[in-house]
Amino acid sequence: MESIQAIKQRFEIIGNDAKLNRALEKAIQVAPTDISVLVTGESGVGKESIPKIIHSLSHRKHGKYIAVNCGAIPEGTIDSELFGHEKGAFTGATQTRSGYFEVADGGTIFLDEVGELPLTTQVRLLRVLENGEFIKVGSSKVQKTNVRIVAATNVNMFEAIKKEKFREDLYYRLSTVEINIPPLRDRKEDIHLLFRKFSSDFALKYKMPTIKLADDAVNLLLKYRWNGNIRQLRNVAEQISVLEQNRTITLETLRQYLPDTGNNLPAIVNNTKSDSDFSSEREILYKVLFDMKSDLNDLKKLTMELMKNGNVSEVTKDNESLIQKIYGNDDEEDATIEDLEVLSIPEKTSNDELPIENMQDKYHFAEEIEEEETLSLQDKELELIKKSLERHQGKRKLAAQELGISERTLYRKIKQYDL
Ligand SMILES: Nc1ncnc2c1ncn2[C@@H]1O[C@H](COP(=O)(O)OP(=O)(O)OP(=O)(O)O)[C@@H](O)[C@H]1O
Ligand SMILES: [Mg+2]
Repeated sequence: MESIQAIKQRFEIIGNDAKLNRALEKAIQVAPTDISVLVTGESGVGKESIPKIIHSLSHRKHGKYIAVNCGAIPEGTIDSELFGHEKGAFTGATQTRSGYFEVADGGTIFLDEVGELPLTTQVRLLRVLENGEFIKVGSSKVQKTNVRIVAATNVNMFEAIKKEKFREDLYYRLSTVEINIPPLRDRKEDIHLLFRKFSSDFALKYKMPTIKLADDAVNLLLKYRWNGNIRQLRNVAEQISVLEQNRTITLETLRQYLPDTGNNLPAIVNNTKSDSDFSSEREILYKVLFDMKSDLNDLKKLTMELMKNGNVSEVTKDNESLIQKIYGNDDEEDATIEDLEVLSIPEKTSNDELPIENMQDKYHFAEEIEEEETLSLQDKELELIKKSLERHQGKRKLAAQELGISERTLYRKIKQYDL
């Protein structure tokens, strides 16, 4: 049995993703049988190489391989294309013609976009699949053929069945083995690899130096949704390779080639994200809430230290980095270590418990902090919006994209905060 690596080389398949490898492995395993295979996956994921692999590794490899795009053939002629017609079967049928199922006898037919087949054709197809029988259009003579079928679809077949656009019995007959090709966004490790491969191919083709992505551009490449999958990635690599003079591609340049960058980012918070790197309003709020929670924990820790120790200057010294984390640097205007001392926690000279009234003061103090923190939720949002607008010289479209919110929402917030 040929190895996955050998198959990848032979069919120019790039990638090392485990799900892709599993799909190729399945294709290799099922190839020597006559089992029908349904290849599923979004548009542009690379479904078309699977039937070729299956055919070339099967005992039919010397027979014909015919790929039919079911979505591209008009409904009126598809039966005749697939099964042939008799002379005079319809206007223009001046001679008897063989269809693909007759021609491919002993070989393989790849039915691409099988979900697009009209229901009447689906009935004919079911019959071929069940007993190898078919009838030419306009004929009454049953013919036999021995064809292996591999079909592919990028539509949700269960939906199509529910809407009665696809026969359930045919679906089960076609999908004896189903091979799913994962979308590019789920093959994170392969994205940059593919981009580099395409870039180097296009550099050769257009006789220009190979483009290279800056680090932040690579991050965007990995986060982007790639609705058009590998086909879209290749187009982007080609466009940039041809159009960009500067061969180091920055984040901003890449953004111009990725439509709707804001909405195409999946809403998953990446641990390494910077403040400016949000995908949605919800993400902003999560970030603010996490920051608040962490601040609150730090404050709790500090308060506990003060309650235990009671010596402000000692606690301040011991917890310098924590205080700086909560209140910022000394040179920042808004909050300093002095602010902490204003909280007037009485210095304690012994290790005794704090008197009850002082403990109550602490609770009072904690409530105030909570209020302040709630207010700072808005401050943080305001700050994020301001920074983003500054970064994009007031260009709302770009700022909205960066913040992952619609321009309309941004406009509303600008009004709300009187920016
Ligand atoms: N792993 C891969 N390595 C290199 N190129 C790939 C790979 N997968 C797909 N491609 C390329 O991406 C393009 C799209 O692939 P393909 O035509 O097979 O998509 P598809 O899944 O059939 O999409 P659709 O459902 O829209 O027909 C092709 O040019 C193909 O050569
Ligand atoms: Mg295709």
